[in-house]
Amino acid sequence: MFEERRQRPPGRNEACWCGSGKKYKKCHLSSDRSLPPRQVAYRPRVRSGPSIKNAAQIAGIRTAGSLTRDILDLLETRVEAGVTTNDVDRWVSDELRKNGARAATLGYKGYPKSCCTSLNEVICHGIPEDRVFLDGDIVNIDVTSILEGYYGDASRMYLIGNVSSEARRLVEVTRECLERGMAQVRHGGYLGDIGHAIQSHAESHGFSVVRAFVGHGTGVDFHEEPQVPHFGRRGHGAPMIAGTVFTIEPMINAGRYDIKILADGWTAVTVDGSLSAQWEHTVLVTEEGYEALTV
Ligand code: MF3
Ligand code: CO
Ligand code: CO
Repeated sequence: MFEERRQRPPGRNEACWCGSGKKYKKCHLSSDRSLPPRQVAYRPRVRSGPSIKNAAQIAGIRTAGSLTRDILDLLETRVEAGVTTNDVDRWVSDELRKNGARAATLGYKGYPKSCCTSLNEVICHGIPEDRVFLDGDIVNIDVTSILEGYYGDASRMYLIGNVSSEARRLVEVTRECLERGMAQVRHGGYLGDIGHAIQSHAESHGFSVVRAFVGHGTGVDFHEEPQVPHFGRRGHGAPMIAGTVFTIEPMINAGRYDIKILADGWTAVTVDGSLSAQWEHTVLVTEEGYEALTV
């Protein structure tokens, strides 16, 4: 989280304000100078800022991310009408165990299952149960593997049988939102660039961006700094720093963005009952752009 505001930029040879460990002149000096004074990025100072991963950590997160991808791939071959969300949970749990991994969600703040299964008007954090997939359902399945202590967090949409064209369009546009958000990732950019790309695309299709849940730093812990909003303004928000790892996971509603949480304390649904879709990847920020760690 970025708190406190600096009045002055660091000296040229002092450490950059962003926490990269580089000298200011080698890091954000030129990009700060190109911004209007009210937007200058040196104003925020890192408190408990995003952590920069070393090569071993990045390799570990990449391996955990590949396992998550493999599990989501396997589900593509199995998820169909007649299967229950508990079946999905058991398959995820079995695959994790077979690979010497475990589910980050199981026992997380009391969450009872190894994945989230969020159907139709469920935005996220749907709990697997004996609900059977029916023709026309859309479902997000979200898996976070912990392998050798490293986290790989990703989710996809799965379409069951004959899905309405409106639901298909929501799923497709949400996927494009993730891709457009990822295309903004590079050292020296701002988290607002990601949010803006996602929000403008979703809203241009008449959809809305959920505000209550955001992407997050990840890799060594499940949820790290920074928070990654899927809405925002270009050039605003926290700066992106090479070597940091975070998720982008837009939740897009066909209707209003407002949410409510069901009595189970987890399941988040659209207040207006409209459909919701989500896609998620974990990405590494690089000097040139990004590397997706869950593809
Ligand atoms: N994997 C989800 C995310 O993308 C978090 C699920 S937390 C849970 O951040 F406890 F609800 F499972
Ligand atoms: Co996530
Ligand atoms: Co997730």
